[in-house]
Amino acid sequence: MEERPETPKAATSKTTLILDGTQPEAVDEAARILRSGGLVVFPTETVYGLGANALDPEAVASIFRAKGRPADNPLIAHLSRLEDWSLVASQLPEAASFLFGRFSPGPLTILLPRRPDLPEAVTAGLPRVALRIPSHPLARALIAAAGVPVVAPSANRSGRPSPTSYAMACAEMDGRADAILDGGDCEHGLESTVVSVEASRLRILRPGAISAEMLRDALDSGGPELAALAVEEAAQHAERPASPGMKYAHYRPKAEIRLCASPEPEALAARYPDRRLGFIISGSGSSGGRLVMGPGGSRVLLVADAGEYARLLYRAFHLMDESGVELIFAQEAEERGIGRALMNRLRRAASGRESC
Ligand code: TXA
Ligand code: MG
Repeated sequence: MEERPETPKAATSKTTLILDGTQPEAVDEAARILRSGGLVVFPTETVYGLGANALDPEAVASIFRAKGRPADNPLIAHLSRLEDWSLVASQLPEAASFLFGRFSPGPLTILLPRRPDLPEAVTAGLPRVALRIPSHPLARALIAAAGVPVVAPSANRSGRPSPTSYAMACAEMDGRADAILDGGDCEHGLESTVVSVEASRLRILRPGAISAEMLRDALDSGGPELAALAVEEAAQHAERPASPGMKYAHYRPKAEIRLCASPEPEALAARYPDRRLGFIISGSGSSGGRLVMGPGGSRVLLVADAGEYARLLYRAFHLMDESGVELIFAQEAEERGIGRALMNRLRRAASGRESC
């Protein structure tokens, strides 16, 4: 087992300013806080991020404290436009430029050779920096107004599910960030796809809304050299992952999670009469993002398809924790498109526990 660097103790004593993203002055205020070294929680199209000025080593260090994040887990640098890539990277290889052209702004993160003068903590000492150009209008406006690249991990305390709504962002970061910019609910609900471009292949280090199929199709249309790249998913092995973040326990609510091909609430409620149960059921209608009552006082979230499932997964964890659910039976998704990202997060949330 690999030795873990010490996890910094979380700082919890700040007064957190709440900024309403519909107000024009909110973005300027948030940008001012970023420029002066503060931490701002802001919405993106994937999940809420905890932002800091990527060029300010003190500000970057304070992200690790606020999240209780291990120091060896690097951060994603966010820009408002690709033209600014040289603020964080020393090169933009052709394949990266092509893929950003196709999928950015949007939920795609690509590893690039880092600029040597970027603060060490951003990349946790690694030679490459992760870059993403988010599409959420508030995220782009904030980064543009700040005038600096913004590092932003998901705005959860380390190990917990990423916040995908304003309420969840507050539950995670009130008292830890200097400000929270309210931008409502996130569109995708799962973190961005992280890829690395190597000599003969494109490796997916973390699956997300930009799926392997979408990357394959894009490369096939990009000329013979790009079409020759193999698209591979990195093994999500716990001890030697390609992406440091993948070795830590992640995305876990307080409740225990079990995955089932098709959970049967009546039968499971009869089998576990003494436990407060939750169910996430896909493909039999939608409960509109709300929990409804199920058999034996259980709570049920119905999602119409894999897209809605992905968008609501972390919110379901949050709502079920709040209503005291102890054991969640979650339906497995088909492993294609966004379903791969969904199953990646579900397996991590359920890891080491029996299925049903
Ligand atoms: O959608 C997202 O990507 C969100 C929003 C806020 O943009 N951000 C996010 O950041 O999910 P975070 O820090 O929670 O996850 C970043 C992942 C981690 O698994 C980290 O290990 C990996 O990206 N990563 C970052 N820089 C890396 C690098 N230089 N080499 C390998 N993996 C890296
Ligand atoms: Mg995260």
